[in-house]
Amino acid sequence: MAHVRSLFFTGAASESEAKAQAAKAAGHPSSLIWNITNRCNLKCSHCYMAADAHILPDQLSDEETLELVDRMNAAGCPVVFLSGGEPMLRKNFWEILERVHSYGIKPTISTNCTLVTEENAGRLKENGVKWIATSLYGTREYHDELTQVPGTYDKVMNAVRILRANDIGVVLKTAITVNNWDSIYDMIQTAKDEGVGIFYICDLITSGRSEGEEALRISKDQWRELCDFIVSDMLDPESKMEYDIGAIPSTIPYIAEQFIKRGVDVEKGLHRLSLFSACPVGQGHMAINSEGNIMPCQFSQEWTVGNIRDMSIEDATKLLRTFGEQPSQGQCAPENCAYTHICRGCRVKAWMRTGAENGGNAFSEDFSCILDKATGERDVDLAAAGVAPCQGSCSL
Ligand SMILES: C[S@@+](CC[C@H](N)C(=O)[O-])C[C@H]1O[C@@H](n2cnc3c(N)ncnc32)[C@H](O)[C@@H]1O
Ligand code: SF4
Ligand code: SF4
Repeated sequence: MAHVRSLFFTGAASESEAKAQAAKAAGHPSSLIWNITNRCNLKCSHCYMAADAHILPDQLSDEETLELVDRMNAAGCPVVFLSGGEPMLRKNFWEILERVHSYGIKPTISTNCTLVTEENAGRLKENGVKWIATSLYGTREYHDELTQVPGTYDKVMNAVRILRANDIGVVLKTAITVNNWDSIYDMIQTAKDEGVGIFYICDLITSGRSEGEEALRISKDQWRELCDFIVSDMLDPESKMEYDIGAIPSTIPYIAEQFIKRGVDVEKGLHRLSLFSACPVGQGHMAINSEGNIMPCQFSQEWTVGNIRDMSIEDATKLLRTFGEQPSQGQCAPENCAYTHICRGCRVKAWMRTGAENGGNAFSEDFSCILDKATGERDVDLAAAGVAPCQGSCSL
């Protein structure tokens, strides 16, 4: 997760980024993604949660969910993403949301939008929801094929219009693969036409129903092309779009390099990154699933560090912070990469690649790096622009 405009300039996510940084500095959870149910009315072919019509056997009870919100408040959690499965399918969804709102915790709902109506858009707004994050995967035909439910594309577009008419901000998200690469620029244009504030592009994470699907990931050249487009769009005074990039943190130093090449001052962005690396693991980020399992990142449901039934949020936060205190290894190690302390590489990909069954090595290198360090010298030197080389500890 890295909001490009808010990092380098000022953008739609500046307020939440500032809250997250303040929470991290205070030792609180900086952001919390809570998959409140694994039940879903769609069956997307790539879903890392492998969500389907079923509730997981050990799902938190309604009482436990409300207690958890109380505990989030006591732990100083500033923002919570209610996700799933489809969060609006959980029968006490509104009760959870009302409790979150009662504490002034900022809620964002990550929903497939099939259950957003004119009536409940107003209720979302009354309960402090300023942003709804929803998913779009390409053309109508491709979106409906991927979600395995005909009519889903039209429901999403209808919901986006309802939300915008109610002045609720929309984040449009896509998991980019070789199958929808050809539609990416059309999706961004659709987002602009519909008044969407943030466009989130996530690298495919090969877990859940995507396990073993590495061949579907787009190439490094394609990522660089996409980053070049984002840089140009950021510099277009007509464009206000915020871009968020997920699960491929090396895009951020790459984008910083492109800004420098174009004579843009990146000092502010580099300073922010020195406080909060592009990979959120170990930076105060926490994921909790519907059974209460705690994870450093939502993208691997197997990399758990405990369960919220027997661990306090405060202890979980401290434990997760230790993942930010150890240097990354291999090409991501401080001696090999001057950008490691602002990037750190994708820790969940490192953990998954080194084998969940062997305990995984969360600190090993991230081979998805788009900087192609093996090909030699960088043509832009971020160090000269203020990126001090890592001093051996990446805890920053
Ligand atoms: C798990 S869904 C839950 C919220 C809601 N049901 C939805 O689909 O928007 C949250 C986001 O994760 C994304 N996602 C699911 N599987 C993924 C994967 N394997 N790699 C990257 N993103 C993925 C989805 O596209 C969606 O935008
Ligand atoms: S990506 Fe979202 S909508 Fe699709 S199956 Fe998973 S939880 Fe459901
Ligand atoms: S080598 Fe690793 S830490 Fe350095 S930029 Fe690439 S992914 Fe990031």
